[in-house]
Amino acid sequence: MKRKVLITGAAGFIGSHLACKLHSMNFEVIACDKFNFRNHFFDVGDTNHLKLQRLRQDRLANLLKNQLIEYQVCDLSDRSLVQQLFKRNQPDVVVHLAAQAGVRHSVQAPMDFVNSNLVGFANVLDACKEFGIAEFLYASSSSVYGARSEAPFKETDRTDKPESFYAATKMANEAMALAYHAQYKTPSLGLRFFTVYGPWGRLDMAPILFAQKIKLRQPLQLFGNGLLKRDFTYVDDTVYAISKLIELEIGKNKSEVVNIGHSNPVQVTDFVNELSECLKIDPIVQFAPMQISDVPLTCASDEKLVKWIGQWPNTSLKVGLREMTNWLEQWQPSNS
Ligand SMILES: NC(=O)c1ccc[n+]([C@@H]2O[C@H](COP(=O)([O-])OP(=O)(O)OC[C@H]3O[C@@H](n4cnc5c(N)ncnc54)[C@H](O)[C@@H]3O)[C@@H](O)[C@H]2O)c1
Repeated sequence: MKRKVLITGAAGFIGSHLACKLHSMNFEVIACDKFNFRNHFFDVGDTNHLKLQRLRQDRLANLLKNQLIEYQVCDLSDRSLVQQLFKRNQPDVVVHLAAQAGVRHSVQAPMDFVNSNLVGFANVLDACKEFGIAEFLYASSSSVYGARSEAPFKETDRTDKPESFYAATKMANEAMALAYHAQYKTPSLGLRFFTVYGPWGRLDMAPILFAQKIKLRQPLQLFGNGLLKRDFTYVDDTVYAISKLIELEIGKNKSEVVNIGHSNPVQVTDFVNELSECLKIDPIVQFAPMQISDVPLTCASDEKLVKWIGQWPNTSLKVGLREMTNWLEQWQPSNS
């Protein structure tokens, strides 16, 4: 019998890719997000906001071309709606990706993160307990490792110095999941993602932000004087790892975290050079100091992941950026 997977944050970047992947692997997919096709223009004066809504709309339209994927709107910060969502669908597996993302955003507006990342997470975790969900996977983040220079980052390393409120919410999620396992044996598997990029990516993250600026011949600000290093992970590799963890039922009977990243950090200046080669346009670069909340390095040990799922794809930055820029050439925000 097909296993039923509930994916939250399915109008988002990773969620929309994961829904397609799991559907192609013959899982029954219920895609959920608070994004509502009919009522999403809160602030039409903000062009970035408008573009983000169009991106979510187009991701979903692309996803729902496949009529076997069911989409359900639910704001997870509402506990009764979450209970109804679980009751209605009775999933075997829950992959909780919905969150307010964005490290820098959390410096500007930390309170934007409370409803989705803390209340929403608690509601989903509690529903997993109530409905006896055998596998609960959720998005954590490399940001829990804080500012450090020793690499690679291992799951056994201490994670008690958040540099941003966003990181603090992800650390809180990991602690809540551990507590539910200690109290109720609710299983959970926290996925620590490392700078995921690719087609349908986030507009607020460096890969697409930089690509758009390069195309418009606008200057790029490289914080940390361009010396920051990031372990970029291509989105197909990321969803491959998640799908394997589900297929092998790794999340059962435990409460753990695992890195989803390759030990392959790239300096931001090298990243920009690679990106500008793809676009065949020279970038205009401005160096700027480190910002509050920036960390100098991210670098995942994937030893634990490999032990569980074996070798996993490691798409080169060259190939991944080519896929991303090809998509960016084609993506014309649909008219609302
Ligand atoms: N992309 C990365 O590099 C990265 C790195 C580390 C961690 N993460 C985490 O992975 C997850 C997915 O990231 P992404 O890049 O796809 O982000 P995204 O912003 O593209 O997607 C998140 C989705 O969650 C939805 N959402 C937010 N609050 C909600 C709520 N209360 N109820 C229902 N839906 C809600 C949003 O509408 C959005 O569609 C997030 O938890 C993020 O924090 C991502």
